[in-house]
Amino acid sequence: MGNVLVQYYSETGHTREMAELVALGASQVNGIDVRLKSIDQSTLEDVDWCHGIALGAPTHLGSIPWKLKKWWDEAVETQWGKIDGKFGCAFSSAGGLGGGPELTCMGLLTILMNYGFLVFGVTDYVAPMMTLHYGAALPGHPKTQTEKDLCIRLGVRLAEWVSCYVDRNDSYHPLKASYKRSP
Ligand SMILES: Cc1cc2nc3c(=O)[nH]c(=O)nc-3n(C[C@H](O)[C@H](O)[C@H](O)COP(=O)(O)O)c2cc1C
Repeated sequence: MGNVLVQYYSETGHTREMAELVALGASQVNGIDVRLKSIDQSTLEDVDWCHGIALGAPTHLGSIPWKLKKWWDEAVETQWGKIDGKFGCAFSSAGGLGGGPELTCMGLLTILMNYGFLVFGVTDYVAPMMTLHYGAALPGHPKTQTEKDLCIRLGVRLAEWVSCYVDRNDSYHPLKASYKRSP
């Protein structure tokens, strides 16, 4: 049974809405157990428990909010070198297009890489001109169905990677002929 943690920081609820959709996507994959937790709710046990994490934050000055960085900085003391090999992906809400959410995604992925996580992007287009190469990045909160699909797709893909490598479920590998892309 693969475990997915969706961990997020949010001040006005936009990233939280994205996180809920990422968790919804992950829960659509058979055999995956999902935990959805804010940075204030989650503990190191959640990170130990998961096989894959989706880490989300609003874009603050083109980067990661300090509170989330602090959480992961402080975890170094006990967790670094002990949680390698889990899957990781990122999502971010920003004030507007061009405001830097992809930079924040890269910052979040950098944190995960430092812990030895296997981070990934997604090549899918959920609609024309709507993709998530660095993770799910949006202005504000997910409003349209396409924006919601973007977040859902990230969760689906994370759960599929977990199922593929933890539960040895080959059919979830995107290069397998049998692989079916979710809508
Ligand atoms: C301290 C601070 C810095 C911010 N910096 C940026 C920024 O660099 N680029 C941007 O597009 N929006 C920026 N914003 C706006 C937030 O990213 C945006 O409102 C986001 O949707 C908030 O998400 P949340 O509701 O999950 O907190 C900033 C907001 C705050 C409070």
